Amino acid sequence: MLAWTTTPGSRGGLTLREVPEPVPLPHEVLVQVEAFAPNPGDLAALAEAPAGTIPGWDGSGVVLESAADGRGPRAGERVVFLGLAARGWAQRRAVPSAMCAAAPADAPWERLATLPVPATSALRAVRRFGSVLGRRLLIVGAASAVGRFAVQLAARSGARVVAVARDERRHADLRRLGAYETHTALAAVSSRVHGAIDLIGGQHLVDAYALLEPGATVIALGHAAGADEHFPYGAFVADPATSDRSITSFFLGSEPDLADEMAYLAADPSLDTGDIDARPWTELATWIDAGAERRSGRVVFRVANRTDPGQQKAGPTKT
Ligand SMILES: NC(=O)c1ccc[n+]([C@@H]2O[C@H](COP(=O)([O-])OP(=O)(O)OC[C@H]3O[C@@H](n4cnc5c(N)ncnc54)[C@H](OP(=O)(O)O)[C@@H]3O)[C@@H](O)[C@H]2O)c1
Repeated sequence: MLAWTTTPGSRGGLTLREVPEPVPLPHEVLVQVEAFAPNPGDLAALAEAPAGTIPGWDGSGVVLESAADGRGPRAGERVVFLGLAARGWAQRRAVPSAMCAAAPADAPWERLATLPVPATSALRAVRRFGSVLGRRLLIVGAASAVGRFAVQLAARSGARVVAVARDERRHADLRRLGAYETHTALAAVSSRVHGAIDLIGGQHLVDAYALLEPGATVIALGHAAGADEHFPYGAFVADPATSDRSITSFFLGSEPDLADEMAYLAADPSLDTGDIDARPWTELATWIDAGAERRSGRVVFRVANRTDPGQQKAGPTKT
């Protein structure tokens, strides 16, 4: 089969080439990949991956073989899947059945591929706050892929969502998704919040922490700014007005078994995935080489699985 593999020195650090077929373990299903959507985590991992690695976590496709242990989706089912061990930018892939969920027959491949990491991260983060009904929940970096899902899931849980996104042009979209307030910077948020999800890090995390009510928590979920956090003296000094506030890190994979969450998210056509920029998968390395721009929405790659002289017989792409 064909797969993108890490190749130091090539365009985008990748080449599309023939690799051995995946051999599923007893708890894994074999899927034919129809679409995949790169995440920041995929792209960050490329630099560290040994040569010959097949990257890629999220995707959608069809089960070719169900798991030998009898669990999970059956052969022929349309599925959405996530593999923390990567290997998704390929025509076929073995996925643990616990990370693979059946999807509705009418859900487009591209839409499904945008869900796994961003939407399940948002769901698990919002759920950590328990009931948010009627409470102010701050989402920093709300226009990001995770942020947009978090806005929607928090709003439908009854939260008064305070959305912060630096680009004001994204605010109308965030209000449409359910945000109660929108701001371009944390300095403009005037009242304390019951909890916060920060996708940006750096000074954003420091400022989000300062906005917490006593007993509240900020989840440091993302670090898009790539910046250090420096807390001023006094941030943690005992004070009844700011007592027992906390910051917690987050890893999507720390709770196993994402199939139920993915099935719930995939089955909901009202969940807004934002604009989707669908491209042939042969363009992956060129897109990465050009900076992996995601401004106009999620970039999703459609995998060519059928005989197509233009793509299937291409062999390694130009580097
Ligand atoms: N811990 C986990 O398990 C986990 C799971 C999923 C994601 N994540 C992390 O969560 C973060 C968000 O992921 P994503 O897929 O939602 O990312 P994304 O869709 O690529 O969005 C990134 C966002 O960050 C904003 N941004 C970047 N630099 C910024 C800065 N200096 N100041 C303010 N905003 C800035 C961008 O704003 P513009 O649109 O204005 O450029 C964009 O909205 C990433 O760091 C990702 O690695 C972690």
